[in-house]
Amino acid sequence: MKIAIYPGTFDPITFGHIDVLERASEIFDKVIVTVSTNSAKTPLFSVEERVEMIRDAIVKIKNAEVESFHGLLMQYAKEKNAIAVVRGLRAVSDFEYEFQMALMNRKLAQKITTVFLMPHEKYTYLNSSIVRELALLGGNYSGLVPKNVEKKLKEKIRSLSK
Ligand code: COA
Repeated sequence: MKIAIYPGTFDPITFGHIDVLERASEIFDKVIVTVSTNSAKTPLFSVEERVEMIRDAIVKIKNAEVESFHGLLMQYAKEKNAIAVVRGLRAVSDFEYEFQMALMNRKLAQKITTVFLMPHEKYTYLNSSIVRELALLGGNYSGLVPKNVEKKLKEKIRSLSK
């Protein structure tokens, strides 16, 4: 069975991530969406909240699962017998960071290949920070994230303003 890991912070998951996941799920037998820790980020949602939001958002993708992990991505990918790590490439600006991470990951686990997939161009401008900012400042973010995520964002903003 060909297993791929799709790691990210997913704070929160957007339609751009789901687009990449749908493409990956057509290539691999199983894709494990993995909520991971990026030490440079302070997420708005807890890991548990992010896992739950992703589970609800991707129920239609039958060969995708959601998990979380702390630690080294390549260690986790080996434990899962993954053959690939999937990353989305939206624009040239993503490239340098992704290139560095892919090469470092290859050094750590030579048999696991990083596969870059391009989401639909309508999601090129989209990232989780923009969605969080729109939510915090009262902008319109409908159509950028699934309905369940919209709802959770509204609840989170309400709880922060109490
Ligand atoms: N649609 C919309 N947004 C997308 C996207 C897509 N298709 N693809 C990426 N993005 C956005 C994300 O929303 C995120 O936006 P943000 O910065 O505004 O939050 C940004 O692009 C990139 O984030 P993400 O894909 O979540 O990756 P990351 O850089 O936060 O985390 C990890 C990368 C978690 C995979 C990496 O840090 C990791 O492997 N950590 C584990 C520790 C480890 O092994 N370190 C060694 C690495 S060499």
